Amino acid sequence: MICVQGAKKVYKTGRKEFYALAGVDLTIQNGEFIAITGKSGSGKSTLLNMIGTLDRVTEGSVVVDGRDLATLSGKEVAQYRNKTVGFVFQSFYLEPSYSVYDNVELPLVLAGSVGRRNRARVEEALAAVGLVSKIKEKARDLSGGEQQRVAIARAIAGDPAYILADEPCGNLDTANSENIMRILAALHDSGKTIVMVTHDPEDARRADRIVTMSDGKIVADTASAREPAAEATSQTATA
Ligand SMILES: Nc1ncnc2c1ncn2[C@@H]1O[C@H](COP(=O)(O)OP(=O)(O)OP(=O)(O)O)[C@@H](O)[C@H]1O
Ligand SMILES: [Mg+2]
Repeated sequence: MICVQGAKKVYKTGRKEFYALAGVDLTIQNGEFIAITGKSGSGKSTLLNMIGTLDRVTEGSVVVDGRDLATLSGKEVAQYRNKTVGFVFQSFYLEPSYSVYDNVELPLVLAGSVGRRNRARVEEALAAVGLVSKIKEKARDLSGGEQQRVAIARAIAGDPAYILADEPCGNLDTANSENIMRILAALHDSGKTIVMVTHDPEDARRADRIVTMSDGKIVADTASAREPAAEATSQTATA
């Protein structure tokens, strides 16, 4: 469970204070698929980055599985990023000169697991995104949609409970976006908790719950009116 309480993030420029988060309370249960939406600058990425330990709250707390993220040591933060959460970003952030295999293996290596024993997990993660066939290619030789699928495989290689995705379809065309959304829906069905930032109302409707932000605050929190899950998940993600 993710529990954000009274979260504020203040940026100071000279004497001016700016609240990127102005008091956010949000509880996310395990197994939820939640979309965070809102205008540019409303604080969506800031909130996601707090949950992912990429940034720290100025006030308030973020507690994940009972642990207050502010109390984690450097080593625990590294473990948290490799094992508790998996990140997917708008611009993929793969290592372009590395093979697909090496990109997906990276979080396992960072978590201290090296060598051939990683192979099964890398292959399993690539199977989930339909890209086992590209395992030896260099990341830079893949299409944008394929690169994002590799990024998702990397995010799930360490089998984290939480997937944090910041505009995962932001750089993709409609067909590739659809593919990524199907993969996220399938991961959700397999038990992952998904927190996805998106400005696309259609993508947001794929989630169970839609949280809307404005000026660093949550201004709406509603159950999504999506179709029954069969429509979103009956097809496997192997395009
Ligand atoms: N390092 C920083 N210093 C000062 N202000 C910042 C910093 N990082 C973010 N902000 C401000 O905080 C606000 C929230 O930013 P955030 O990136 O969370 O918005 P967002 O909702 O993700 O927007 P977008 O849809 O454009 O990605 C913005 O007004 C931004 O300019
Ligand atoms: Mg953002």
